[in-house]
Amino acid sequence: MLATVREIQFPQHGDERGKLIALESLTELVPFDIKRVYYIFDTTPGTVRGKHAHNVLKQVLICVSGACTIECEMPNGTKSEHRLDWPDRGLLIEGLVWHNMKDFSKDAVLLVFASEHYDEADYIRNYDTFRRMCEIVNDE
Ligand code: TYD
Repeated sequence: MLATVREIQFPQHGDERGKLIALESLTELVPFDIKRVYYIFDTTPGTVRGKHAHNVLKQVLICVSGACTIECEMPNGTKSEHRLDWPDRGLLIEGLVWHNMKDFSKDAVLLVFASEHYDEADYIRNYDTFRRMCEIVNDE
């Protein structure tokens, strides 16, 4: 079972008019076919979202306005925090990674590209279940 977390720097097309970033499916920047897009905004102060992992889903997260922090935990227990605070930065999360989204600024808009249609069956929402699944992955 795959588990990856990787920060991605998007190249900008900037000129005197401002900046533009273009992303396409199946490239180094978005290494999957985009089947779904969702965005999180108007987040209540202090809220922590996410608190789950996925079996197969791949996602690229971009804070296109404002800022938020993504907390990740890998199957081997390694934890990392990624502050997304500018539209030219993305975070790729693939598969069995426990992730929380927190510290949203008032103006935060977190845009997410996803590799699959919404499927509740792909979610692991119980942390103990996640850790048990990690033990199986770590033994493989
Ligand atoms: P939820 O999984 O709680 O969001 P988060 O992980 O960001 O905290 O989703 C909130 C609601 O939105 C829940 O009823 C499921 C629904 N939803 C969809 O219908 N489609 C989607 O693509 C997503 C991400 C959520």
